[in-house]
Amino acid sequence: AYHANVTVQNNKLIAPFVKEVSVNTILYLCAIVTFSIPLLYILNSILYVKRKQNEPPIVPYWIPVIGSAITMGMDPIKFYRKYQQEYGNYFTFILLGKRMVTCLGSEGNNFVFNAKLANASAEAAYKSLTVPVFGKGVVYDVHNSVLMEQKKFVKAGLSNENLRAYVPMIEMETKNYFSRWNKQSDIQDVHKATAELIIMTASKCLLGEEVRSKLDESFAQIFHDLDGGFKPVNFLFEDLPLPSNKLRDQAHVKMRHFFMDIMKDRREKGITDRTDIMQYLTTHCQYKDGRKLSDEESAHIMIAMLMAGQHTSSTTTAWALLYLASQPNLFNELRKEQIEVFGSLDEPLTFDGIKKLTLHDNVVRESLRLRPPIFNVIRKVLRDLPIPGTQYVIPKDSYIQSILAISHRSEGYFENAETFNPNRWVDFDQNVKERDDDLVDYGFGVLHSASAKSPFLPFGAGRHRCIGEPFAYLQIKTIIAVFVRMFDLELYKNKFPECDFTTMIVQPKDPLVQYTRRDN
Ligand code: HEM
Repeated sequence: AYHANVTVQNNKLIAPFVKEVSVNTILYLCAIVTFSIPLLYILNSILYVKRKQNEPPIVPYWIPVIGSAITMGMDPIKFYRKYQQEYGNYFTFILLGKRMVTCLGSEGNNFVFNAKLANASAEAAYKSLTVPVFGKGVVYDVHNSVLMEQKKFVKAGLSNENLRAYVPMIEMETKNYFSRWNKQSDIQDVHKATAELIIMTASKCLLGEEVRSKLDESFAQIFHDLDGGFKPVNFLFEDLPLPSNKLRDQAHVKMRHFFMDIMKDRREKGITDRTDIMQYLTTHCQYKDGRKLSDEESAHIMIAMLMAGQHTSSTTTAWALLYLASQPNLFNELRKEQIEVFGSLDEPLTFDGIKKLTLHDNVVRESLRLRPPIFNVIRKVLRDLPIPGTQYVIPKDSYIQSILAISHRSEGYFENAETFNPNRWVDFDQNVKERDDDLVDYGFGVLHSASAKSPFLPFGAGRHRCIGEPFAYLQIKTIIAVFVRMFDLELYKNKFPECDFTTMIVQPKDPLVQYTRRDN
């Protein structure tokens, strides 16, 4: 009755206007139509991106500037597969006013990863996101040739000799960490655990035990605030006045000083026998022109390494454990493999032993295939760029991107591509014909340039290829090896988590698992 009364009263209020307004309304409508056609035409030409001659096809969109951001963001895999079917391996979509040229398949990967320096730049694409986090004078704040030298330093610091020393450290950290899962059986968030464990092991091995010892106090907060600067929006816009960016900038200064103070302290105490990267950077590294790496540069390289390895390795470990939880019979297989290599599950893990664990290796590889943490690799195009073998020319200032997950999960390259099957790698032929004349050295070690044509590139290829791969494999395999000794695992309510695409690194949503301790 109340609603009916209100409606009647509203009608009474509106009624006197209806006759008067109706004549005016028609006039208004005519005026709006007459003026809006040219206005819409002008807005359309200003706001909507026009396809240039020979440009790859542009995915249609309704809202100017926003472009396809919403549809792509909701389900990127569906989005890229849909338009790959419609347009083939090369097409453009508009993302917040920017042209993103998507390059798919192994040829598309090769086009992006092997793009010449003069044609496409990683620095121009990643600078606004990374320089405030990593700091000045390193990685994407310097000429590419300097980055190549800095990568050489880190690669040399991750020598087999140092990696050998890391295995017992990772084993001990992992055992200690999981001693807190002390019930006979319980439910836990596996990604929360791997994120905490990866920062503990990485800081102990790479950054130094002084950093590790501060992890539970001040350092954790600094890391958290700095990490808050790693937001997709900072890739798209420079220097946004966000509160999180203010915290990021303060955290960067604190972390730099934190590392530089440790360097100074070590120098004063004459400490030179550490196996961490801090030790290597501060004592062994000199540029080709004879200049020594400064403490500030060393500190910034350490921040870059921390950031490059943290989410990539923690999500990979989480996804690997989730996939194992979805096929619990693999736990016995992994334990069997360890008994074959080490003799028993009580023997300490070693570098040489970890290298022999091929099923463990294939579990990590298969997790990286299905859930590559770096979803897309981006470059900014510096001049109009033809795509070989097509009639397309990409306009200057566009972005080119390779979407690793699309070739990784394509039936054309991998049979039953959506199935987690670590054994597919036992005799997998990546079908890339590498010849010795393909060899190329960008400054941090020799690579096969043809490897960029592989459909499986979780660590990238070419001059920007990852130098953290050996450490990442060692770290993740050691954690898994300790974990399977301690626990059996199942998915909570048998539910395999979905992907969260809103973060820089694709993470599992609600990754709950049910563990059962083996040693209680
Ligand atoms: C580059 C993936 C761990 C340091 C890259 C790239 C990918 C990648 C795809 C190429 C980016 C591009 O071409 O734009 C991964 C994955 C990891 C991992 C999947 C773990 C599972 C690490 C770790 C470190 C590290 C642990 C350091 C210890 C670097 C560095 C680069 C790089 C320095 C070179 C950047 C450049 O040259 O532009 N990584 N990474 N990564 N990564 Fe990793």
